[in-house]
Amino acid sequence: MKYLFQLGHQPQISAAEITAVLSLHRFTASSLHHRENFLNLETDQQLNCEGLIEILGGTIKIMQKINFANIADYLLTKKSEGKIHFSLSGPDSRQLALEAKKTLKSAGCSVRYIEPKNTATILHNSLIQRQTDLTIFANEIFVTKAIQPFEEFSQRDYDRPQSDNKSGMLPPKLARIMINLAQIPKNAAILDPFCGSGTILTEAMVMGYGNLIGSDISAKAVADTEKNLEWTKDNYLLSPISYLLCESPATQLTKHIKPASVDAIITEPLLGKPLTGRENIEKLQAQTDELAKLYIDSFKTFAKILKPGGVVLFIIPKFLYKDEWVEMDCVDKIKKTGFKTVPFEILGSKSVEHLTYHRPDQHLARTIWRFVKKVSVDHLSAPPGISPC
Ligand SMILES: C[S@@+](CC[C@H](N)C(=O)[O-])C[C@H]1O[C@@H](n2cnc3c(N)ncnc32)[C@H](O)[C@@H]1O
Repeated sequence: MKYLFQLGHQPQISAAEITAVLSLHRFTASSLHHRENFLNLETDQQLNCEGLIEILGGTIKIMQKINFANIADYLLTKKSEGKIHFSLSGPDSRQLALEAKKTLKSAGCSVRYIEPKNTATILHNSLIQRQTDLTIFANEIFVTKAIQPFEEFSQRDYDRPQSDNKSGMLPPKLARIMINLAQIPKNAAILDPFCGSGTILTEAMVMGYGNLIGSDISAKAVADTEKNLEWTKDNYLLSPISYLLCESPATQLTKHIKPASVDAIITEPLLGKPLTGRENIEKLQAQTDELAKLYIDSFKTFAKILKPGGVVLFIIPKFLYKDEWVEMDCVDKIKKTGFKTVPFEILGSKSVEHLTYHRPDQHLARTIWRFVKKVSVDHLSAPPGISPC
């Protein structure tokens, strides 16, 4: 089966997420083309596109190849359903669409071509139900099977009761991508030790993870996370889910969480003061050193509370100074606290040590790393379970 994924605005991250999710669900897939915002895959089994789009954070559309030589032949199979509404994307799409329209009209069909402006156009014209949103890619025709539930993402981003614009919020789609990159089962105990207003935990809750722990040095952040988790529960009609929250510096979590009891830490830590782009290099370097120390000290604690083989999805920022990035030299020191890095596989590309999330208007980029706690004999006998915060 051939599929085409339209990737979000950080295509490398989206492709790594698809690779991680397909591998977690044991699908064998090979890449046919990976071009700009598209990943074209061949799989051994049929994909449940509607189910998959509900899981992924970085994919805009999932399309499946149809075995028709031209668009008009395919659309003619829809003749019995009444007026044919369709849209077409890809090279020369407008001209090809007009030619198809002419052919269909001469075959006695009533037909309307809809310019493919954005995903909202597709939804409002029910083109998914009609199976008539078409894309031409590598000389093959694909029909859209599923589209990102973007209204739900934006509801969680903008309508939740508490947000913290000062310390910054992770976009919910990126939170979801990080959770997927951790490749963990639904019963995993997930901790966000810098939970802020709880974006990662709320996204994990929506995805069906039911063993959540959040902590933050700020009492307000903990209270905000609680309000947002309750709001998410109410809005998404989720079955009872337990979570634990506590106010604590990340470096002192052993006072609240039992040794070797956490499966995964997924977090965006303190990223430093918001930047204007006018900071001098000394200031940026001082901020970088301070954050590196916090991260290394936090990993010393993570090594104690994580189970052996436990995973950490962690954001390390880098800062723009003039045209150069000021990067943080902390990965080797983190590894010395008992971790190894696990590269991200990407179908159709080489695997990478880290992924980078950056928007052109920002002076900060987030690099995403996956660490795994090395298995050591001392931790194997530690009792599982979480003690209340
Ligand atoms: C960038 S924000 C996290 C935002 C979060 N991902 C969200 O979307 O809401 C970083 C958080 O780290 C917290 N923090 C700062 N220093 C900390 C420390 N030493 N230990 C734990 N939390 C800390 C801050 O209070 C802040 O809420």
